[in-house]
Amino acid sequence: MLRVNDLNIYYGNIHAIKGIDFEVKEGEIVCLIGANGAGKTSTLQSISGLIPIKSGTVFFEDREITKVKPNEITIMGIAQVPEGRRVFTDLSVLDNLKLGSFAVKNPKESDEEILRTIYERFPVLEERKDQRAGTLSGGEQQMLAMGRAMMSRPKLILLDEPSMGLSPLFVDKIFDVIKTFKEIGVTVLLVEQNANLALQISDRAYVLETGKIVKSGSARELANDPSIKAAYLGA
Ligand SMILES: Nc1ncnc2c1ncn2[C@@H]1O[C@H](COP(=O)(O)OP(=O)(O)O)[C@@H](O)[C@H]1O
Ligand SMILES: [Mg+2]
Repeated sequence: MLRVNDLNIYYGNIHAIKGIDFEVKEGEIVCLIGANGAGKTSTLQSISGLIPIKSGTVFFEDREITKVKPNEITIMGIAQVPEGRRVFTDLSVLDNLKLGSFAVKNPKESDEEILRTIYERFPVLEERKDQRAGTLSGGEQQMLAMGRAMMSRPKLILLDEPSMGLSPLFVDKIFDVIKTFKEIGVTVLLVEQNANLALQISDRAYVLETGKIVKSGSARELANDPSIKAAYLGA
């Protein structure tokens, strides 16, 4: 579904992503784990078209999207949930959700239908739909950011550190929902510093260190790999 080949990203002279290759197959949950500064966010943002790619290619469903504009990438079926959620705090919860669908023309599901799917997973968003998003807790704002991404009817969702700064209870809830994306035909590329959690719900994983992929395999293999345990799993 997604194939990244020899991706290179620069910020001025800084070579942030150094020729990485990876793929995500339809129906999978794939995670990219790595420490702060490894290049996780840059990788996701380049797929979404939010930062320029210096060289290399990105293919989505056999179409090259390396130079496609962000709004077109959304329409093609990729939605990103940004690091730090970025909800519009002065707008209501419902208006934030509706913003997620504005780029999508002629969706196969009505807004009401997709809202149902979202509210089933995150009942608090329905309970608080008329409240300002700024009144939500961090965990609820993460749910809202995920709901907003679902509104664009993505085939592939890119999640940038959904667990960041959240209490264990919210983290569990959010990861339970990520596991259900498969049921609604949504493939997941997940980026996390919390490797423990990410490996628990993923099918496959790649390890990113200072802009390079140093290891890849099934999530189970990596969770049992001594060097990964020592570096990322606190074992
Ligand atoms: N806007 C930017 N300008 C300059 N350097 C940046 C910028 N964004 C990220 N970087 C650098 O690129 C590298 C990768 O950053 P990032 O993709 O944010 O990593 P991660 O998400 O894994 O923490 C880091 O060295 C970071 O300092
Ligand atoms: Mg990041």
